Amino acid sequence: MTEVTQRRSIFPRLSRLMLIVEILHTVAVIRYLYFRLVRRGTKVADQTHDSVSANTVMHNLKGIRRSIRRVGRSSVLIRPLSIIPRLQRRLPEAKVLSIGPRSEAELLCLASHGFRLRNVTGVDLLSYSPRIDIGDMHALSYADDSFDVVIASRVLGYSDAPEIAAAEMLRVTRHDGYIAINTGDLQPDSATNQDLDYKPGSDRIYSSLADILDLFGTHVGHVHFSNDPSVESGKQRGPILVIFRVNKPQMRTR
Ligand SMILES: C[S@@+](CC[C@H](N)C(=O)[O-])C[C@H]1O[C@@H](n2cnc3c(N)ncnc32)[C@H](O)[C@@H]1O
Repeated sequence: MTEVTQRRSIFPRLSRLMLIVEILHTVAVIRYLYFRLVRRGTKVADQTHDSVSANTVMHNLKGIRRSIRRVGRSSVLIRPLSIIPRLQRRLPEAKVLSIGPRSEAELLCLASHGFRLRNVTGVDLLSYSPRIDIGDMHALSYADDSFDVVIASRVLGYSDAPEIAAAEMLRVTRHDGYIAINTGDLQPDSATNQDLDYKPGSDRIYSSLADILDLFGTHVGHVHFSNDPSVESGKQRGPILVIFRVNKPQMRTR
């Protein structure tokens, strides 16, 4: 009789503990301190695309540590992503690109929801972590169709040419993969920016879900999840959120 041994890693199950946000914060802070203080590995993109908005790097460098505590901003996309039926069945195999995670918290949040950390790549203009590549969303260094999921949470507001960023997201996402966008509240007149003596981000204002979907044109397939502040009233309308299936059966951009 042949003994069948099933090799099961304990790490995916341990990652689920990070659904408890305090555990996720603790892991993220310990790793942050290790990489920043012990490994001293903080890097910044030395050249950026013309489409990167003014003050982007300076502004975001200041907020790395703080962003660990703000993981709720990305979990608002990651939770619904993780329960899309066609994706849910193969979360551990799905290759994910997180554009602009700023800290590892977004990557750990993906792991806590069932994605496998080793299949999650971060890319940002700044990085203290070996899990976050230095790169620019307007000129990604990944091959066509490399990812099943691309998430860009509160990043498009730092682009003066979001059409280029959207084309890059489409290029690296495979047909039938998913793109998840949160615009955040980064607007030139937003309350968060009033105390600053410089303006972070672009002048471009997104006022509705259609503004975001237009960037992706005919490649928007089924919309699985969305929030459109333009159809709500009152103060708590939230950011524009969308997760859609990518439709590009014959598209080859390079
Ligand atoms: C406001 S933070 C968002 C952090 C996190 N995703 C969240 O939702 O809280 C924006 C991040 O996008 C990064 N970013 C801005 N422009 C970028 C670009 N052109 N390419 C890659 N990352 C960019 C910034 O460096 C920063 O880390």
